[in-house]
Amino acid sequence: MDKLTRTKVKELLRTEPGVTVLAKGWVRSKRGNKQVKFISLNDGSTVNSIQVVADTSLFDEELIKKISTGASIGVTGELVPSIGSGQAVEIQAKEIVLYGECDPVRYPLQKKDTSLEYLRTVAHMRPRTNTFGAVLRIRHAMAFAIHKFFNDKGFVYLNTPIITESDAEGAGDMFQVTTMNLASVPVHDGKVDYGKDFFGKKTSLTVSGQLEGELGATAVGEIYTFGPTFRAENSNTPRHLAEFWMIEPEMAFYDIEDDMVLAEEFVKYLVQYALDNCMDDLKFLNDKYDDGLIERLRSVLGTEFRRVTYTEGIDILEKSGEHFEFPVHWGSDLQSEHERYLVEKYFRKPVILTDFPKDIKAFYMKQNDDGKTVRGMDVLFPKIGEIIGGSEREASLEKLEARIAELGMSRKNLEWYIDTRRFGTVPHSGFGLGFERLLLFVTGMSNIRDVIPFPRTPKNAEF
Ligand code: 4AD
Ligand code: MG
Repeated sequence: MDKLTRTKVKELLRTEPGVTVLAKGWVRSKRGNKQVKFISLNDGSTVNSIQVVADTSLFDEELIKKISTGASIGVTGELVPSIGSGQAVEIQAKEIVLYGECDPVRYPLQKKDTSLEYLRTVAHMRPRTNTFGAVLRIRHAMAFAIHKFFNDKGFVYLNTPIITESDAEGAGDMFQVTTMNLASVPVHDGKVDYGKDFFGKKTSLTVSGQLEGELGATAVGEIYTFGPTFRAENSNTPRHLAEFWMIEPEMAFYDIEDDMVLAEEFVKYLVQYALDNCMDDLKFLNDKYDDGLIERLRSVLGTEFRRVTYTEGIDILEKSGEHFEFPVHWGSDLQSEHERYLVEKYFRKPVILTDFPKDIKAFYMKQNDDGKTVRGMDVLFPKIGEIIGGSEREASLEKLEARIAELGMSRKNLEWYIDTRRFGTVPHSGFGLGFERLLLFVTGMSNIRDVIPFPRTPKNAEF
């Protein structure tokens, strides 16, 4: 007889009964009596487990004892119709191989406490829970859909550097990269002598791939990046990570209007993709954590995002009569509470906020004729606030140079960037989608630490 190949649980659950199958995975639970045991087996291919029915008289007593929660096993048996398990089929076990035991006393997931807070303290094991399995599968599906969306449009995937000299966003919250011995840093004229460092200059982890993305867009037309970005902002909030993933499309010959159209099409495509391809996981999360999840996903698809200028937005907030923790006035950066008011209470739909004061935005944004505002756009979502930040870029060499000087930025490190305006400059635009912010929306999870496998936040870089 041919060797039986393993079938994933996801596949088994939609297979017609009457065949002999081999399943492999981890035991979620075991119950039953002396004569028969019901083992719930999960292999991560789906949130659903398959029920294995073991007639104890067929197996060694020791083996049955060792099949505890978390243990890994392989089961050969007949796929039969199931009456009680809530699934169409179950496996009538003929042979069970125990790959690895799992000590019920020490297994971190054996605990009664299954709160998300507890699971963060055992982040190395939490992927084995149904919740994190669902999140990881949705995360994968979204990454795949992102590549598909841009590939289908003819965008080129551009890998931008992780180690860089430039602070693209100008916020100054970068993690330095060095091979110098911090206990005895070389000093020259009272200053750190970066000439002696690995790259011969001061370098950091990137906060954004945009500036290099602009080099790509002004060469091959339309690019996107998708990579890790790092921000040393000390914001311990449910929406900030020190290491997060960002998708940054950059398009030659796009103005701000084209940019907004693409951003809206993009997020709607991703939400639709999740609804079409991740329904089992979405249903699980909807039922367990957030019973408005699926409805909220659908509601975003059926609506046109509302475009509002920053100035109009401030006006609405000032007149709202709402008590905000951070007061607002023209010129202040909006906090999540303000963004959420506009989205959830005022417009009741996603909002694209545009034309911000130039002083709260980065140097590269295209300046409006009013001399006060720039052509930026932020996409604001329910429950999250800002999910996308983007802009039309300043294409004029003179204006860009003037802005760099005005902000007192070092030109030395930016000459390569300025060359895009010096040689064949074009109108162009782009935006950045925070991958974990998107996942907060799509999974309905409320803390960003729960949508990335290994979160990095202030004072936390374990696992
Ligand atoms: O608005 P940001 O800072 O924009 C940029 O970095 C531009 N270079 C993008 C571009 O135009 N190409 O960041 C973009 C998005 C935010 O809207 C947010 O979703 C996410 O990145 N983001 C974070 N996500 C998690 N943790 C953080 N600390 C984040 N900071 C920004
Ligand atoms: Mg932003």
